[in-house]
Amino acid sequence: MDLHDKESQDGEIVPVVIIGNGPSGICLSYLLSGYTPYLSAEASHPNPLLHSKLGEQPQLSLLEQDLEYLCEGLEGRSSNPVAVLFDSLLLPDSDFGLDHTSPLEWRYEPERATPHLVLGKGPPGGAWHAMEGSMLTLSLANWMELPGLKLKDWMRDKRRNVRNDRATPAEIASYYQHYVSQMSLEQNFACGTTVTSVTRQPGSQEGSPPYGSSVSEEVPFSLLAHNVVLATGTHDIPARLGVEGETLPFVCHSFWELEAAICRGELDQSSDPVLVVGAGLTAADAVLAAHHLNTPVYHVFRRSVTDPGLIFNQLPKLLYPEYHKNLRGRSSPSSPPSHTSSSSYPGYLSFPRCRVVAFRPDRKCVLESESGQRTVVQISKALVLIGAHPNLSFLTDNGRPLGIYPNEPVTCRRNPIDADPFTNSVLAADGPGLYAMGPLVGENFVRFLKGGALAIASDLAKKRREGGVRESGDVITDRLLDGRATTHREVVIGS
Ligand SMILES: *[C@@H]1O[C@H](CO)[C@@H](O)[C@H](O)[C@H]1NC(C)=O
Repeated sequence: MDLHDKESQDGEIVPVVIIGNGPSGICLSYLLSGYTPYLSAEASHPNPLLHSKLGEQPQLSLLEQDLEYLCEGLEGRSSNPVAVLFDSLLLPDSDFGLDHTSPLEWRYEPERATPHLVLGKGPPGGAWHAMEGSMLTLSLANWMELPGLKLKDWMRDKRRNVRNDRATPAEIASYYQHYVSQMSLEQNFACGTTVTSVTRQPGSQEGSPPYGSSVSEEVPFSLLAHNVVLATGTHDIPARLGVEGETLPFVCHSFWELEAAICRGELDQSSDPVLVVGAGLTAADAVLAAHHLNTPVYHVFRRSVTDPGLIFNQLPKLLYPEYHKNLRGRSSPSSPPSHTSSSSYPGYLSFPRCRVVAFRPDRKCVLESESGQRTVVQISKALVLIGAHPNLSFLTDNGRPLGIYPNEPVTCRRNPIDADPFTNSVLAADGPGLYAMGPLVGENFVRFLKGGALAIASDLAKKRREGGVRESGDVITDRLLDGRATTHREVVIGS
């Protein structure tokens, strides 16, 4: 059945619509398709307290347990408690590079399945498909994996010798796509769709929602949903510094512009340095990419080199030797003395605790240290990689009212969507049934966004146990989604 048929059926309301088909959406689809985690009988968890709590009601699936109770006292690298819990159950002790077996056992219980639809612009895997890099990702490959299919096993089948525990973005994208077919989730995915608006249905709806038809390639659609999950990720609109000269042609805002320049042969060891602004994973990838070409790099970021909040300092040294070798290079003399070691990459110069003041047309960049000292550097290219904003144009006022600071744009870092930590329901929503997950609620790592899927699936399961959302007298919380689908054929839902 395609989207066109689905929406034209009178009064059919989809129980759950997930907007976004990246790893968040895929993971939630898995849980909503009847794949249910239990504590396996012979399992042990290295955390004795968690182990004993899990053993209290082993007959219950994780979706029926009190997540808040299980989360108590757990600590980890995410501020989201359910994310830490689920991560610790899927990959116990992985922070120590240990491969402890997960105590979870996944049972397929189709009677638990909740009909749902995952809408996304491209193929399943979301932004990972745009990352056609040859670079190794900076994240540990098994942190990228979704429940039920070991990334390592899949990679081993795919390529002969796995060099290390990391994978390229292209491999990750391909893994996600394979996952969707292996788990038979395809029928829930409507790819090639763009949601243009989500509005709450006032009162009871009469007849079918408005529907228009068009002969153009893009076909409009409308859907009604009891629950809507925002899982779009935040990679749509690159963040800007907001400084003079930022629109000059040598100033780029995406890693892919660097790759394009590399492909055109614009950068080599004789080039003026590439200026990389930012201290996230993408910035690190850009530094390493320039390093591969022996192009000198100036690396500007606001934190100090030793700041534990710096993403580089969160990466285990053992697993990222080239990062620790290369990005621990020299700091500029103007910046405060910092932890340095001999670098094998003399072309690297970092400017910690600095900001960009302006870019000039003659490819000069003005930097300013915390103490106000200015430095002018000559560069070949600038890469501003300071994060990205989500495109929530389909929500009222671009979703601003849902953020922690409702007057500012929603961003992953500074202003994520304010959601309940144990259910992921959006606190400022105009009624129940609106959820958000992944980067939209501030979760950057695939490793941790699975927690959002668990929280949402548990809440939906609880609603179902408590009599569903459609009991008469219930507040009508349905939402109407409008959007465009690129072609009919790609858009397959239901069965
Ligand atoms: C946000 O998405 C909408 C719908 O796809 C699109 O029309 C708009 O141009 C996007 N906005 C930005 C700033 O990219």
